[in-house]
Amino acid sequence: MITPLQQRLSQRAKALLNHPQGMGNYFTFKAAIDILGLSWDKLVPGGVYNITGPGYYDMGYMANHIGPPKSALDAFIAASRHENLVVYPPDCMPELKHLVADHKFGRKLGADFEVMGVEGAQGGIGYTYLSFLDQGDEVIVTDPGYFHFVPAAEICGARIVAIELNEANGYRLSPKEVEAAITPKTKMIVVCDPINPFGTVQTKEELLAIAEIARKHDLIVFNNITHNTHRTNPKAVQIPMASLHTPATPMDHVISVSGMSKGYGMPALRVGFMAGHPDLIRGAFLTKMEITKIHINYPGQYAALAAMQDKEYVKRSTETIRRNLAHLEETIASTPGVTMPISPDYGFCTMIDVSGTGVTAQEITVGLLNHKVAVIPGDGLGQVKCADYIRLNYSHPDIACFEQFRKALPKAISEAKEGRYAAAVDAFFAKAGTERGRIIRNRIAPRLKKMAEKV
Ligand SMILES: Cc1ncc(COP(=O)(O)O)c(C=O)c1O
Repeated sequence: MITPLQQRLSQRAKALLNHPQGMGNYFTFKAAIDILGLSWDKLVPGGVYNITGPGYYDMGYMANHIGPPKSALDAFIAASRHENLVVYPPDCMPELKHLVADHKFGRKLGADFEVMGVEGAQGGIGYTYLSFLDQGDEVIVTDPGYFHFVPAAEICGARIVAIELNEANGYRLSPKEVEAAITPKTKMIVVCDPINPFGTVQTKEELLAIAEIARKHDLIVFNNITHNTHRTNPKAVQIPMASLHTPATPMDHVISVSGMSKGYGMPALRVGFMAGHPDLIRGAFLTKMEITKIHINYPGQYAALAAMQDKEYVKRSTETIRRNLAHLEETIASTPGVTMPISPDYGFCTMIDVSGTGVTAQEITVGLLNHKVAVIPGDGLGQVKCADYIRLNYSHPDIACFEQFRKALPKAISEAKEGRYAAAVDAFFAKAGTERGRIIRNRIAPRLKKMAEKV
């Protein structure tokens, strides 16, 4: 499904047009807006990535809905001055680099550790892939995993080797499975910790074992820790891999990434950080310079500096997130056919499994939007249980969001069971034309057939 004009696109761009994780090809509440005949202007005015329409609640993409601390807003406004806007700022101010190194990555800046500013954690993903991946390299990632880990690597010519997250591995990367997935072509292991979408964290032993495997095979470890600010489970401990650097366990092959969107509720700043050995960061710095230049806006940097020092904000927002999770877990426990495979340890994302309902996650997504809750089903996050999983963002500051979800979920399931959305979801995937879409269509087909027979 490439138009004649699109033949002029690069192979990279062409590969995205029909990618199952390419935006528009996977199902979200946005597809549900069209299916329900709702107004884009009212629900997502200006094309934002979360539902902001009155009366609606967003549990979809991973913005932290608590929003920024006041300290960060004040710093942002104070820094929005003529002299800060009239120059090209540095990639990161020295004080910000120091703070990020200590506070986020747990390692001192120095001859063997450097921090570079990037456009959000996503910028860190892009520059890590661009700086290390060549055609034919293999990258180990989890399935499910964050949307962009797969397509972003593939547009660099790399091949994905997926490790399924499941009950047996505790929804974490198992070093044994990582070792088994390595071939002579392996170049990188993506360690997203906490893991988007389950919110699980790796143990220290697992991290050391993965680092050791990577050292043995001359690989890069990409450690994305952007969801580590809020400890949802008071007993859990998340450890940045950079902080495990010792003479006996050198972490110079680890690239670390974080950002301001999740922990501090400021995705619009587009401020993030990429860190590692200066020899490696130099390659990424030059890559970045040639593509988007090295500068990160000053107001955003000052806001980041203030936010990361605001301990009270993190404490309060963690309390809100824990409250929300407790409410959500009660809802899931009392909804037949729905389970939460594992309780999250950190961050504010979790997965629910709706396979016991007999209908697809995509149909339930439409039903949920019909009852004013926006969510994203699993097909954008991977192949595993792509018709069964729904990812939920549980950061909303208003408990009314979770009350609404409690009311909406059984209604959405029952509407989906009536078959109200089956044909429209089927049509969405027929148009997307992806293999993954076919799996979902195959799940809907017998019910569509039965419905047609009844008519
Ligand atoms: C694991 C992970 N990495 C990166 C990002 C992008 O974050 P940012 O807004 O900082 O670019 C997200 C957002 O959901 C994420 O979940």
